[in-house]
Amino acid sequence: MKDDTALVHLGRDPEAHNGIVNIPVHHASTVIFPTIDDYKKSGSGRAKYHGIRYGVNGTPNSFALAAAVAQLEGGRGAAVVGSGLAAVTMALTSVLKSGDHLLMVDSVYGPTRRFCDTQLPKWGVDVTYYDPLIGGAISTLIKPATRLIFTESPGSLTFEIQDIPAIVGAAHKKDVLVMMDNTWATPLFFKPFAHGVDISIQAGTKYISGSSDQVIGIITARTEALFKQIKDTTMVFGEIASPDECYLALRGMRSMGVRLRQQQKAAFEITRWLQSRPELKRILYPALPEDPGHRLWQRDFLGASSLFGVILQTTSEKTVAHMVDNYRYFKIGASWGGYESLVIPANPKPIRKAVPWTEEGYLLRYHVGLEDTDDLIADLKAGFERLNS
Ligand SMILES: Cc1ncc(COP(=O)(O)O)c(C=O)c1O
Repeated sequence: MKDDTALVHLGRDPEAHNGIVNIPVHHASTVIFPTIDDYKKSGSGRAKYHGIRYGVNGTPNSFALAAAVAQLEGGRGAAVVGSGLAAVTMALTSVLKSGDHLLMVDSVYGPTRRFCDTQLPKWGVDVTYYDPLIGGAISTLIKPATRLIFTESPGSLTFEIQDIPAIVGAAHKKDVLVMMDNTWATPLFFKPFAHGVDISIQAGTKYISGSSDQVIGIITARTEALFKQIKDTTMVFGEIASPDECYLALRGMRSMGVRLRQQQKAAFEITRWLQSRPELKRILYPALPEDPGHRLWQRDFLGASSLFGVILQTTSEKTVAHMVDNYRYFKIGASWGGYESLVIPANPKPIRKAVPWTEEGYLLRYHVGLEDTDDLIADLKAGFERLNS
């Protein structure tokens, strides 16, 4: 089944729901069983991980969403949690223990870094940040205690593309697991398990939902054993997404293919146009042939989503604010992956540990939504006129 067909047909079962196309929302805490034997069986074996036992274990809505994302990413099983950040922290918690060493990419999403800096040391996990461009040379950083390499490609804010197959090759030679935050590419544009990744994370909040009105996370595992380890952890922490959120995410995901193709096309046209602007120093978008990550992106990815960065010539926040505060369509907002265009200021300089961020210009991160591309370009053009005035 091709992805577009899968997006329509995965995670639903009309025959089991009176012909209703979308799985109805199942609000549930208590689930009752006809016999003691049935009740006991629900807590063991396959039923424990995939069956309805009690609301915190999952509902038909969370199981349907998990199954759909797992199949799209090519994994053996998935657990649904309350946010993308919870997906990261639950996934890390499920594989790390006291005494372990974690290799964390230096271009990681900020709150993931905060978790590693504030929580993992309390639990006796040692963290080393590494250069996102390290590739196979990551083997030189692997210690006997290294349990996990965390990747995110492209990197948050700075958009470096990582050589995932090279990192996986080095990791697996030493029995080290590889985890990837695959939110930017979505399950459609990067197939983590085909590239050897062990655990993949989606902030379903972004393109999966596509509607800018919910938070949800999904953790998918390459093997059944890893899936069980993750699901056990999410259950022991009482971490689950509500049936309403799961319903919305699955409903949003049905249209992800068309949305992403449209947003990719628009982002490509807009970044091409931006390349002609003298106000910019650099565009951080791996889909552009001039981007340093383009070769790896072209080799490993099936497309590009619509989130990218630009480095302006100016360093003056006052000048930039005059441009950004008065955009008509690019609104200032922290999330992305929804239907609307967004922009935020960013500064990776103070947080980098492995490799300094040396670009001097003001960094803006743009998300291209589903508005008309000509309108968006006109908005950006008017912004540059304000910048230059
Ligand atoms: C790359 C990445 N991963 C994870 C998250 C966390 O997702 P959530 O906002 O659902 O916690 C985000 C949110 O911006 C993100 O950008």
